[in-house]
Amino acid sequence: MDEYRKTASRPSFLIFACGILITILTSLLSSSLPSFGAASAKRIISPPVNKPFDYQLGGSYAPPKGTAIVVRDRKENVAKGLYNICYVNAYQTQPDETVWWKKHHTSLLLKKGPKFVYDTTWNEILLDTSTVSKRYALARIVNSWVDDCARKGFNAVEFDNLDSYSRSQHKLTLGNNSVFAKTITAHAHSLGLAVGQKNTPELKTLGRNYIRFDFVIAEECQRYNECAVYQKVYGLHMLEIEYTDYPTAVYKTACRLNGNKLSIILRDRNLLPKGMPNYIYSTC
Ligand SMILES: *[C@@H]1O[C@H](CO)[C@@H](O)[C@H](O)[C@H]1NC(C)=O
Repeated sequence: MDEYRKTASRPSFLIFACGILITILTSLLSSSLPSFGAASAKRIISPPVNKPFDYQLGGSYAPPKGTAIVVRDRKENVAKGLYNICYVNAYQTQPDETVWWKKHHTSLLLKKGPKFVYDTTWNEILLDTSTVSKRYALARIVNSWVDDCARKGFNAVEFDNLDSYSRSQHKLTLGNNSVFAKTITAHAHSLGLAVGQKNTPELKTLGRNYIRFDFVIAEECQRYNECAVYQKVYGLHMLEIEYTDYPTAVYKTACRLNGNKLSIILRDRNLLPKGMPNYIYSTC
């Protein structure tokens, strides 16, 4: 990560300098024209309701025909003409960035005694959201990623692993993660990006009313009987993914119950790119 930033230091300095100039000009303009600031306030638009979407976290590819919404990693580019959601792992380390975290921000990684606390399913270390100062330091990092999402033209962002506290061996609370979510969501909103809650039905209405999430991305909600909880909070502003490593009957039930009003897809667990042998994609 830092490596990328170093090699990119010249252009980013230019962008930075231009940014300052624009900021000065904008503030000059807005102070002379009182309505300017309000008129240019960024409008936040949630994903379109009940449109086919694709979840491309295992690698980007041209979306299936008719796709309206796509979720891609923050390091990828947007799919032109679609509604693009930027995937940001805000609560755990991506495996290929663990070395960077350990080298530069080891104090922001969650520990129990001398050991890092891992999400063993995905081999990711949990980020430590337990104190104000750590959340502040984490927000500086995550917000800079969200800046990149905005610059690339994404419409929204998904902060993954909001539910990390449930894997934290009691070192983190839902409150810790919610306070952090509120901070990074406010930043994304300031850039005009919509923000999706990811899983975590325990939040109930706090997701919308306290954190200010705009929509929800719900994995396996049919499997775990959580869809109604999300629907109660977000109405139809919901993207649902069911996976193929449990009976497809679950997905079929989801389609039967909600397929005519919500965006629901079936994917292989590793979200493989199209063309790979075990790639699966289906929409209700
Ligand atoms: C964060 O978690 C710690 C315990 O790990 C707790 O003492 C603290 O009150 C929590 N803060 C919030 C805002 O929930």
